[in-house]
This record gives sequence, C-alpha cells and structure tokens, in this order.
Amino acid sequence: MVLKEMTLDEKIDLIHGNGMPGWRKPSPLAYLGNGGAGFVLGVERLGIPLIQMSDAAYGVRGSQMNGRYSTALPSNVAAAASWDTSAACEYGALIGRELRAQGYNMTLGGGVNLARELRNGRTFEYQGEDPLLAGTMVGNRIKCEGEQHVISDIKHYAINDQESGRNEVNAIIGERAMRESDLLAFELGVEIGNPSAVMCSYNAVNGDFACENKFLLTEVLKKDWKFKGFVLSDWGGTHSTVKASAAGLDNEEPEQNFYGASMKAAVQAGTVPMAELDDHVLRILRSEFASGVVDYPTKKFVVDVEAGFETARTIAEQSIVLLKNQGGALPLDAGRLRTIAVIGTNADMGMISGGGSAQVDPPGMQQGGWQRHVWFPTSPMKAIQAQAKSAEVKFDSGADVNSAAALAKKSDVAIVFAHQWTSEGMDLPNLSLPENQDALIEKVAAANPHTIVVLETGTAVTMPWLSKVSGVVEAWYAGSKGADAVANILFGEVNPSAKLPITFPMSVADLPHPTLVKPPAGAQGAAAVMRTGSAKPTFSVDYSEGLKVGYKWYDAEKKQVLFPFGFGLSYTTYSYSGLHVKHGAETTVSFTVKNTGSRAGAEIAEVYAALPAAANEPPKRLVGWSKVALKAGESREVTVSVAPRMLSIYDVEAHGWKLVPGEYAIMVGGSSQELPLHEGMDVK
Ligand code: BGC
Repeated sequence: MVLKEMTLDEKIDLIHGNGMPGWRKPSPLAYLGNGGAGFVLGVERLGIPLIQMSDAAYGVRGSQMNGRYSTALPSNVAAAASWDTSAACEYGALIGRELRAQGYNMTLGGGVNLARELRNGRTFEYQGEDPLLAGTMVGNRIKCEGEQHVISDIKHYAINDQESGRNEVNAIIGERAMRESDLLAFELGVEIGNPSAVMCSYNAVNGDFACENKFLLTEVLKKDWKFKGFVLSDWGGTHSTVKASAAGLDNEEPEQNFYGASMKAAVQAGTVPMAELDDHVLRILRSEFASGVVDYPTKKFVVDVEAGFETARTIAEQSIVLLKNQGGALPLDAGRLRTIAVIGTNADMGMISGGGSAQVDPPGMQQGGWQRHVWFPTSPMKAIQAQAKSAEVKFDSGADVNSAAALAKKSDVAIVFAHQWTSEGMDLPNLSLPENQDALIEKVAAANPHTIVVLETGTAVTMPWLSKVSGVVEAWYAGSKGADAVANILFGEVNPSAKLPITFPMSVADLPHPTLVKPPAGAQGAAAVMRTGSAKPTFSVDYSEGLKVGYKWYDAEKKQVLFPFGFGLSYTTYSYSGLHVKHGAETTVSFTVKNTGSRAGAEIAEVYAALPAAANEPPKRLVGWSKVALKAGESREVTVSVAPRMLSIYDVEAHGWKLVPGEYAIMVGGSSQELPLHEGMDVK
C-alpha cells in the first residue's frame, strides 16, 4: 500500500544514503543525520521514518558524537567463545536497546565472516572458524537485537576474509566449498536471526564484486534462502547502477554515486525496470514495518550504565578461555598471596579494544582517528587488588624487561597482561605478540615460574614461551568490565567455561596461506580503504583450501596445533559416558556428562561427525553442542539433535544439500581433539 503511494523521487530517496560524517563529500542533508555511519530519508507524508544507522559490532559506535554513552561488550570472537546462545541474545538485546537510546533505529552489526585467515584484522568482529558455531551465535545475537525494534543486519556478505586490499581483491572459491563454509555461517545466521538487512562486502567473489554479484545476492540469498529484507552495500562498496540493481543490491551506502540521479535516469530510460526498483523499495519498506521502526519510533534516553556493566562482565566471564593451568596454578588463593606483580602495557589502567568502525569509545574520550589504540578504563591492577585485599600489588609496564623481571622475582606470582591490537583496514603481519612481549614473558617466567599470562587479543597468537609459564588465560578484548571478569576468573570467583572458537596454530607456516596475499604495489592506498567504484578487482586470493577452514584444515593436513578448536580448561573436570545415536528425520545424540571435580562448572559438550569416505570431506565437522551446568559430582544426560543439513554435503549439480549414504562416525567430548565417545551410524 505504501509503495503504491510513492512517487519516483520518493522511491529513489529510500535506496541510497546521504553521506557519513568525515566521508569525502559532506552532504547538504547532513543536518538530518544522527552522527552515525549513515542515514536514509523517510517519506514524511506517508509516516515512513528516517533510517538512522550506527555501527554496533560490540557496542554502539559514535555515541560520543551524540554526547551519549554506550557499553562495550566483549568482542564478537570472545562472545563466540561462550558457545552460549542466551548470552548471544543478551548481547544483541543490549546493543538494540542502546541504539534506540541514542536515536538509532538500525544496527550495522552482526559480522560473521568465517575466520579463514587468522591474520584478518577484523577476526575480533566475527564469530570464529566454524560455520555452525558462528551462524548460530550471530543468529541469536541478531534475533534479540532485532526484537528491540531496530533494523537488524548481518555482514559482510561474503568471503571478505582479509582486509589487505579488501576493495580490490577477488576471492576465488568453488561453490561447494563456499556453501559448506562461509555461506553456511550466513545461511544459519539469516535463518535463526531473521535479519532485516544484509550488508554485501567490499571484495569480489569469483570475478564479480559482492555488491553486484547475482549469484550471491539473488540466487543464494534471495532465492535459496528466501531472504525478505534488503541488501545494502558496504561503505563505498557499490560499483554500478544497472549491474548492481539487476544483481540484487537494494541500497547504496553511504552516498548516491549510483543509486541517486543515475538510478532515476536508468529507470526513466528503462535500463532498470520499474519492477526492479519497486522490489528494492518494497524490501526496505517491509523491513521498516517488520522490525517495528514504523510503529515504535525511537526516543532518546539515558542508557542503564550499571546494567550494561553487569551484562558486559557476565558475558566476559563466559568468554574467557583458560588455556593452561599447570599444577593447579590457578585459581590464585587471595588469602595466601603476599605480593603480586602486575606486568604489561597499561595493566595499571585499562584493557585494549578492537579498532575501526567497530570501535566503541570509552566515556570521556573524544572521537579521534579511526585506528587509535583505545584502552578501556577497566584496570587489571585495581581489580586484582580488590580480590587480594591483604596482598601488596605492584605494577611494572614491562617497557624495561629487566625491571619487570626483577619485580617478578620478588613477588609470589607474576601476572603478565599481554596485548595484540587489531583493527579493520589492516591485517596482522604474523601471529606473534607485538612490541617485544614474547621476550618480556620469557624473561619474567625465567625470574618467577609462577607466571600467569593474560592475553588481550583479537585473534590467535603464537606462544614460544608456553612451556615456561604456569598459566595462560585468553581474555580477548574483554569490554567495559574486562578487568573485573579476568580477576573473577583468576581468583576462582568464576569457574572458566569458555572454549576456543578458533584454532591456535603452532606457527603461521601452518596456515593454509603461510604468506598473506597482498594487493599489487600501489593498488591499495589509504584512500582505497573507503573508495568507491573501481571497475574491476586488481588481484586475487585463491582459497584453494576450500571448505577446510580452521580445524578442518589442520585435521586434514595432520598438522599439530598449539590449542585446538573447542578447547578450554575449567577448575573442575568432566567425564563423558553412555553415547546413544539415533538416526531419523533428525539425528539425536544422547550421552552423559559428569562433573568429576569439586567445584560447580559448566561444560560445553561438543558433537562432531565424520562423513563416509565417499563424501570426500575433511576428517570431522562440528554438528552440535550443549552447554551443561553441573554441580560438583552431578551428572546429566544430554540430548543434542542434529539437523540433516549438518550431516550433508552441498551437491552443486543437484543444487541442494545431500546426505551421502554410508558409515558415519559420531564423536563426543570436550574439544575437537578430545572426543572420548564414538559411535558408528549407518545411513542408507
Ligand atoms: C565497514 C563496515 C561498516 C561501515 C560503516 C565500512 O568500512 O566495512 O563494517 O559498517 O564502514 O562504518
């Protein structure tokens, strides 16, 4: 009904943005914006509101421009480490509420590019390397974010798996590989989360830029997955009018280089049919009604800071992975420690966060450069002192390794906070801790073997010092209350339960692409990060590893890893028994998990399948999991149902998922490399 009332100009208004603060050309309409990444005009006479968009990867960005405040949640890869769908829901709901509080009715969040390239500077914005885990987690986040009456979003569709040359790289990958890996994560995210919008990515896929890629946008997304929302381009990711429109791009952001006057002219000339334009507009209108932004206009209010802290802390506690705990070095006994050395850059003041458009600003900080290193004012030193009230807690920045080692030597325990800053718009040169931190840890551990390393990283790191320290905790980018969460884990107030959503390899030499493929010299200037319009990609990355992403690669190549996918320790222990597998319309996998230690905890029980040889698949894949809370000594029977698709391969010829007949193996346990329960399953 609304569409029928609209004039051509009103339709055109809906399909493009109107600039972004700091973007190249300031728009004369800039005054209508809300300080976010972009906005789309409404149709006032028909009651259609403006769409005000904000980036919101791990919290609402751009709040400072609004003079307002937002909670920084743990990074997305951290949240994935919780394997907890209700935590993912809380994560989304909090962001949805805070968006509306700041006058936004659309999120640019929900990143789910698969961690195919661990050096990708945006790994912290995504949900790890497994499509089932990533798709399920992002889907739950999106669902609950959208329920707050914001236009929800999933991004960056698709195969945007490295930042180097992202505007001009052509990702080469076969259809089956893509459908079973990166696209499966999106498919599940769309199915579970029902997002109102999909952001297509900068890169090209098999020759066509993602935002004018008919296969991705129309064949897969809109036809196969029956997506009813709209596709918007990443910022400057639109390259054409006629081709993009025919391919299925509905909205150009943040400007109108192709979807403003040129689109109007194309429609008038008949090179873009009116029906095609109507489909773009209808999809946007539909999303506005379906998400509730028409019925529930935003009203600015002050966010609940304390509640945000509480959510940020509890999610961080569920996200922190205990990687090493030699001889029960952890938890620390607050009553027994007399002296504690807290070592590491800014460990007296704050914890690092991830940069780029995901960046959330801490209170009081002026919005600055796009790639500043932002340390959140959550002080590890203070949080540790608050736990160990009678101990003397001393700080050393680690800038001088000898002074740090001297402090460690005279302390009962040394806790080193090591960081790896990552950001959009760049990739890491390698997976080593930067700034001499490996040497620092080495030296400190030599001075005091009771050394605990707390990692604040956006992706995996290598650990040449691993055998010399007594404990390692992966805290990721831990958000507004990261330090309290870390201290609660270190002192045993919280029993760690998280498990790695990405493999930590032994070395970059073991990655599918030991050398990152870079754009040809001169192709990628700083401006290229946000450029519009080159006609063709300038270089390619051939993802010849195909569907062997993450653990599937290391398994297939028989490469030893530092810490496997799905791995994480606890202060208690668990045992597994009694596996029963029933194959039917759904496959049900039942087993018993017992807490065999002396503390309450939560175990993430993982279910993997090995497909018959004829399927020609990597050795195993995750097909389900259950997070089980158990008191000391308690045991519980758990049933995990596995949908047929998770046991299938993608048959390109038949254009669909296919169950390959033969002998399957179902494996259950506490990590991808510790699967004590096995049962065969015959599929006819
Ligand atoms: C990023 C998107 C982001 C957009 C708007 C782009 O550079 O790739 O993730 O939503 O900018 O800030």
